Amino acid sequence: MKVAVLASGRGSNLQALIDEWQGDSLPVEFMGVGSDKINAQALVRAEKAGIPTRAFPKENYLDKESQENDIANWLEELGVELLILAGYMRVLSKNFIRKAECPIVNIHPSLLPAFPGLNAQRQALEYGVKVSGCTVHFVDEGMDSGPIILQEAVPVFEEDDVDTLSERILKVEHEIYPEAIRLLALDKVKCQGRKVKINRHS
Ligand code: GAR
Repeated sequence: MKVAVLASGRGSNLQALIDEWQGDSLPVEFMGVGSDKINAQALVRAEKAGIPTRAFPKENYLDKESQENDIANWLEELGVELLILAGYMRVLSKNFIRKAECPIVNIHPSLLPAFPGLNAQRQALEYGVKVSGCTVHFVDEGMDSGPIILQEAVPVFEEDDVDTLSERILKVEHEIYPEAIRLLALDKVKCQGRKVKINRHS
């Protein structure tokens, strides 16, 4: 499966995918890594792994539509079959999502539908939940509202702050994102309306 990744920052989820791929346990072809931030650490990680990179910095475009047109053309040129968002912090427009020629997946640091949007870990702490986690989901036109592929829970402790909770969640993100991409690449994921069925045994 030909995949591309969009990431805005540190790129630790991208790295988790690259590590699995280099260990021959992720049957994908990384066609490219793109970012809206020219200095994103994710681009450096991709270059080190020999994956072509492209920056789509906001300041180079008159508006979001022209930036997204460039991203769409890039995906088309690369023949991408799955777009992976890994800490891509610019919300894709409804128009981009509607017109996308391949499925788009995202990882979010909460147990959706709780705490969508920005600062999910802070939202969880402020709400006072005892359990949080992360979610891999298909991207639809809403905010973190698409069908859920995989989730993993972690405990929330009274002494947690945003950093300690984020770190605990990130560890499981690095496990479930490669697992979800592997299942997708092996065609074991079927989306039926809101529900995602995973066939782990065929
Ligand atoms: C991850 O925690 C990811 O779940 C989150 O940003 C972080 C990116 O880290 N994504 C979102 O909040 C999307 N709404 P990374 O750059 O090290 O992979």
